[in-house]
Amino acid sequence: MELRGTTAIVTGGARRLGRAIALALAARGANLVVHYGHSAEAAARVVAEARALGVEAVAVEADFGRPALVGRVVEEAVARFGRAEVLVNSAAIFEPGGVLDTDEATWDRHFAVNLKAPFFLSQAFARALPPGVSGKIVNITDYRALRPGTDHVAYTLTKAGLVTLTQVLAQALAPRVAVNAVALGAILPPPGAGPGHLERLARAVPLRRHGAPDDVIAAVLFLLEGSDFITGTTLVVDGGAHLGPVRGTQTVE
Ligand SMILES: NC(=O)c1ccc[n+]([C@@H]2O[C@H](COP(=O)([O-])OP(=O)(O)OC[C@H]3O[C@@H](n4cnc5c(N)ncnc54)[C@H](OP(=O)(O)O)[C@@H]3O)[C@@H](O)[C@H]2O)c1
Repeated sequence: MELRGTTAIVTGGARRLGRAIALALAARGANLVVHYGHSAEAAARVVAEARALGVEAVAVEADFGRPALVGRVVEEAVARFGRAEVLVNSAAIFEPGGVLDTDEATWDRHFAVNLKAPFFLSQAFARALPPGVSGKIVNITDYRALRPGTDHVAYTLTKAGLVTLTQVLAQALAPRVAVNAVALGAILPPPGAGPGHLERLARAVPLRRHGAPDDVIAAVLFLLEGSDFITGTTLVVDGGAHLGPVRGTQTVE
């Protein structure tokens, strides 16, 4: 897909990885719909940065904790640009909680933001795609979906659901919409993490490093621009974390 001249919706596009993805798409010539929840000022800055790159951009607020508001994002995209060809579902929450201490509110919050919103956004996106126009969806998930542990249980289940949703949508929206996912390992430390957080995680990863926003951008751009023959796949960008700690004899140090 040629991104230049398309319209891309990036959820959670005001900050951190969503922002990096949004600006990478703008740099490739896509007009931007920057969805945000609470970060209005940050979203306005991304809009200004995108415009400085020579594309059109708007910010759209929607609290994904209130499912009725989800459809507003696609509606605004269509109202402003006529259509949207790209949807990147990046907005998410990531809260701790094990099996014994995850309460219903935590469960519901994660499922609303991390799984229900991507589903209904994808539905609205597909319904709004004009006849004859092709589109692409990229869902940002987590290596934990492939190698679940005992922490962040609600989060992990939503991200596993997003992998399955990717496979369902890839079939349901074919042949016009390709739907893929990117499963991330440690890229940015969660807010409040102490110094050395990523370095500590990196020690348990086969490639012995953590990732960077550029690793995410490369994967997303590959799925959007690199090939139009891929759908339903989850590209794992985690330094091998989904394989678990290295077992057995290592041959290369
Ligand atoms: N960071 C990593 O290393 C890493 C690792 C694995 C997977 N991931 C995945 O990669 C994606 C981006 O990660 P990140 O660390 O950049 O994410 P983040 O900072 O935790 O959050 C991304 C955005 O989600 C939006 N959001 C949260 N609750 C919302 C709600 N109720 N309504 C609407 N928007 C809401 C927030 O928008 P506002 O600020 O506007 O409220 C926030 O900017 C996520 O899907 C995450 O699960 C990240």
